[in-house]
Amino acid sequence: PDGAHVPALVIGTGYGGSVTALRLAQAGVDVHMIEMGMAWDTPGPDGTIFANTTSPDYRSYWLRTRTKQPLSNFLGFPIDKDVPLHTGILDAEDFSGISVYQGRGVGGGSLVNGGMAVTPRRENFGGVLPSVNPDEMYNVYYPRANAGLGVTEVDPGWWESADCYQYARVGRKHAERSGFPFVFVPNVYDWDYMKQEQAGAVPRSALRGEVLYGNNHGKKTLQKTYLAQARATGRVAISPLHKVTSVTPASGGRYTVVIEQLNTTGVTTATKAVTADRVFFAAGSVGTSKLLTKLKATGALPGLNGEIGKGWGDNGNVMCGRANHMWDPTGSLQSAMPTAGIDNWAAGGAFAEVAPLPTGIETYASFYLSITKNPNRGQFTYHPATGKVELNWQTAWKQPSINAAKTIFDKINAKEGTIYRTDLFGVYKIWGDHLTYHPLGGVVLNKATDNYGRLHGHPGLYVADGSLIPGNTSVNPFVTITALAERNAERVIAEDF
Ligand code: FDA
Repeated sequence: PDGAHVPALVIGTGYGGSVTALRLAQAGVDVHMIEMGMAWDTPGPDGTIFANTTSPDYRSYWLRTRTKQPLSNFLGFPIDKDVPLHTGILDAEDFSGISVYQGRGVGGGSLVNGGMAVTPRRENFGGVLPSVNPDEMYNVYYPRANAGLGVTEVDPGWWESADCYQYARVGRKHAERSGFPFVFVPNVYDWDYMKQEQAGAVPRSALRGEVLYGNNHGKKTLQKTYLAQARATGRVAISPLHKVTSVTPASGGRYTVVIEQLNTTGVTTATKAVTADRVFFAAGSVGTSKLLTKLKATGALPGLNGEIGKGWGDNGNVMCGRANHMWDPTGSLQSAMPTAGIDNWAAGGAFAEVAPLPTGIETYASFYLSITKNPNRGQFTYHPATGKVELNWQTAWKQPSINAAKTIFDKINAKEGTIYRTDLFGVYKIWGDHLTYHPLGGVVLNKATDNYGRLHGHPGLYVADGSLIPGNTSVNPFVTITALAERNAERVIAEDF
């Protein structure tokens, strides 16, 4: 309520926020989490909490009146459609030159993501978080994160015969015929549940294509892992549909936090001010960067340093499809949870996930999301005339990503006698170079903060999310975000509380 005081306030309920809240609560600190998205704990009129991927509705998008599907076209035809304005689950946030997809709701990105839980190869870690000791990460914090998230590997014997992974086996065959290492990646999906989906024994979720707009079954989101544990301590409260707009110093070393309460059409219905002894920014790379860039530029937090808003990257995301021959069908039943990738990081700077195209019909297509070594970095700046924070990314900055992905797919196409699909992102457009699923950086560790996420210039303010990671993780990012949050929380709790 307005005027309340809390010992620790956490902005956002994604990976960084959930880890921080749990560890604080276990150390005896009362925590209040503020989340701009919805709780996602109540079924809609159709009896399910989340909308299906093939029939987006009011639940699917954050404050849009038309869907913005990552694959915008099929056979060249646009597939987006009108939906009612609602505080839905997937935000396609448009900046100049890039749309940044993010989860909105209690659980953050865990609500909408593919569940791929990948630890970077140790030899690449120096390029991921150069100021962090790899020994402590690989011996302590990565294992702790994987355990906390419920990460497991698919049963290889089942995978070899399951209809729903035919597309992945085709991906493996093409990778191996061209000499590329094909690697399995762990996931947070419940494999026993998926086996029962394949067997027709339970309601389908991954096997109904559910992922982008939430999974009604099977996926271990943060709601089922870190946040469930956090709530069980009795010390963690969560306020959904509340958005933090300002944090300023108050007397006694505390901070005043201004919070807007939203209704489900995004209208502010109340504005509250609370005080907090400590504030943890865990609003995601974009959310935290936008907040801190504005608070620095407007003088609300004058002690922040010149690194705020810098070092933002897209994890080198780029998408493409390949058209297969008729003798290489990828299957009409495709699990929405990817299990494997093509690892050409060392030679070509690309790690390509073999992704599903769960349309329910045979497409004879292979689809890939590549994570690439793209050196370009954007910067957030505040524009007083509009009151908005902008990002200076340019679409042309994806060219190094396209070049890296081509080191894999040009070779596979030459070997197989196949071509790129040109109908998935427009008409005669091969590359999905207009988006990212993996925003990282903007408040980089050991630059905008100390080496444990403490913001410079304002004791008691911390950053705990993907904004700490300088733009690239060489693989999918959430395990690294979780492990870094575990590491920083342990240090901060030991030294500052
Ligand atoms: P995260 O974005 O999870 O959480 C931030 C939270 O803060 C959000 O809930 C947001 O609503 C809230 N917030 C923001 N501003 C606020 C404010 N001002 N006030 C209150 N609340 C605020 N990664 C991976 O490793 N494997 C995968 O398979 C995938 N797949 C994937 C698919 C899709 C479609 C997407 C969009 C993303 C992925 N990802 C992924 C990426 C992964 O989900 C992402 O890296 C993490 O969720 C980021 O975690 P954070 O803790 O940084 O923020």
